[in-house]
Amino acid sequence: MIKTNHLVIGSGVAGLTFAVKMAEKFPERNIVIVTKGNEDESNTKYAQGGVAVVLDEEEDSFQKHIQDTLIAGDGLCDASVVETVIKEGPKRLKELIVWGANFDLDATGNFDLGKEGGHSEYRVVHHKDITGFEVERALLSRVHQLKNITLLAHHFAIDLITEHHLSENTSKNINCYGAYVLNEKTGEIITIQAAQTLLAAGGIGSVYGHTTNPVIATGDGVAMAYRAKSKIEDMEFIQFHPTALYNPEGGNLFLISEAVRGFGAYLRNKKGVRFMPKYDDRAELASRDIVSQSIDAELKKSGDACVYLDCTHLNLSEFKKHFPNIYQKCLDQHIDITKDWIPVVPASHYLCGGIVVDKNGKTSISNLFACGECSRTGLHGANRLASNSLLEALVYAHQIFKYQSENLPKLTAHIIPEWNDKGAEIPKEYVLVKHNLKQLQALMRDYVGIVRSNDRLEKAIKHLDLIYTEVEELYKKSKVDTALCELRNMINVAHLIIGQSLERKENKGGYYNLDNL
Ligand code: FAD
Ligand code: SIN
Repeated sequence: MIKTNHLVIGSGVAGLTFAVKMAEKFPERNIVIVTKGNEDESNTKYAQGGVAVVLDEEEDSFQKHIQDTLIAGDGLCDASVVETVIKEGPKRLKELIVWGANFDLDATGNFDLGKEGGHSEYRVVHHKDITGFEVERALLSRVHQLKNITLLAHHFAIDLITEHHLSENTSKNINCYGAYVLNEKTGEIITIQAAQTLLAAGGIGSVYGHTTNPVIATGDGVAMAYRAKSKIEDMEFIQFHPTALYNPEGGNLFLISEAVRGFGAYLRNKKGVRFMPKYDDRAELASRDIVSQSIDAELKKSGDACVYLDCTHLNLSEFKKHFPNIYQKCLDQHIDITKDWIPVVPASHYLCGGIVVDKNGKTSISNLFACGECSRTGLHGANRLASNSLLEALVYAHQIFKYQSENLPKLTAHIIPEWNDKGAEIPKEYVLVKHNLKQLQALMRDYVGIVRSNDRLEKAIKHLDLIYTEVEELYKKSKVDTALCELRNMINVAHLIIGQSLERKENKGGYYNLDNL
């Protein structure tokens, strides 16, 4: 049993930013971060485009960024949240810089600003095309300097501890008391009792086979919160990024940043026709939902497997300076962007919904907070504006820190039972986990993709029920491990996406159902 003031689940931008702030302000309080896999593995690490932020109010304005966010969110953003996040952005970015993150400057010494879909101005601060790598590096380095943070890598949070686990259950409210955590190296399950718990467990991309996310994005935070009966909303709004590098085998796909289109690249179909102008006046720089839906329409019409991103007309020496990683990655795949078009497809990229939180990052469960991609703050509405995600995590980590600083929690005297897996065995048929994962991903890709229909969603529910039953049976009798827990979590997340899709009767942003036309 570990006891701590603050338990943080996840070591991406959201969890690390909160931990650094808390540890710096309160050196006497201890913070435990648990994270599965290596400490830096996260969606954050792969962020390319950058952080959208208004730094010069003469060239740009908060109002324009607010307006762009509201338009992208298609009427479903919470306007007051949008205003807070955008106006707080510059301060939070400056803190990140103080902690050591470097962002590119132009020849005049000002930030070199990029542009992405849906933005009316150049306002995306970036570190070449590996912004997330730099942010993660800087935050981890700060974390390692702070003595009151314990970072436990290869520690997988299985479930939140709530009233449900206590032998004496006297409270009518649901409270969170910490989490059960699996040491992935030893197989031991430890109980971490915490006065306050922060879920910062990231995205869900792996629920779809084709994704820009790394394999760790299995929706564990959302699933844990859901099982603990926290409020979860807007799960139907899965954002598909228009330009993942095409790979016939699918899987985790390399992203070709939207900033490449911001730099002037064109989308063409196989015949060479630049098709975006016919779908939207903003052409390649329409918001992501529109570009992905347009590509989907083109592919359905032509029967082709991918469309193409044409960079050949651009200033290629500048391109290589801005996008060295993308340039190299394409070369590794024998695509020379100076002559070749890049084959691209839309892929699942970002969860706009998630665990419902208020302005202080509080969930509907007492002492449980959520931050970053697993949370639903109201910023994104039906579709997130590009590069607003790192921004949201930075601002909400601060909001949560501020709230907790003013409401410093104490550990309760509850007796928390240890994890009970008496009678559980190491599963003999691991093929079941692999098989069901493949089935789940195929189901989500084929029935719950960019364009949905009630018929396909109903079919998806039926198939999912079969997978759910088989996996729950296995879970009940098994000694748990990461792969099995992740699969179980992805099934919960799929259930939420399909169920909430069926509830939405109007197409908005990233949600497009043929029966709602
Ligand atoms: P993550 O960074 O994903 O961190 C989650 C952490 O939780 C990880 O450490 C993970 O291991 C851990 N974890 C998960 N489950 C468990 C568990 N059960 N137990 C213990 N630990 C767990 N956004 C932008 O704003 N700008 C961009 O340019 C941009 N580019 C992107 C490019 C790519 C390829 C991708 C995939 C995303 C991009 N995004 C971008 C989105 C953005 O990167 C993410 O939304 C953001 O980084 C999420 O941060 P997070 O801290 O919430 O989650
Ligand atoms: C990208 O660089 O295209 C990703 C940006 C984002 O997801 O915000």
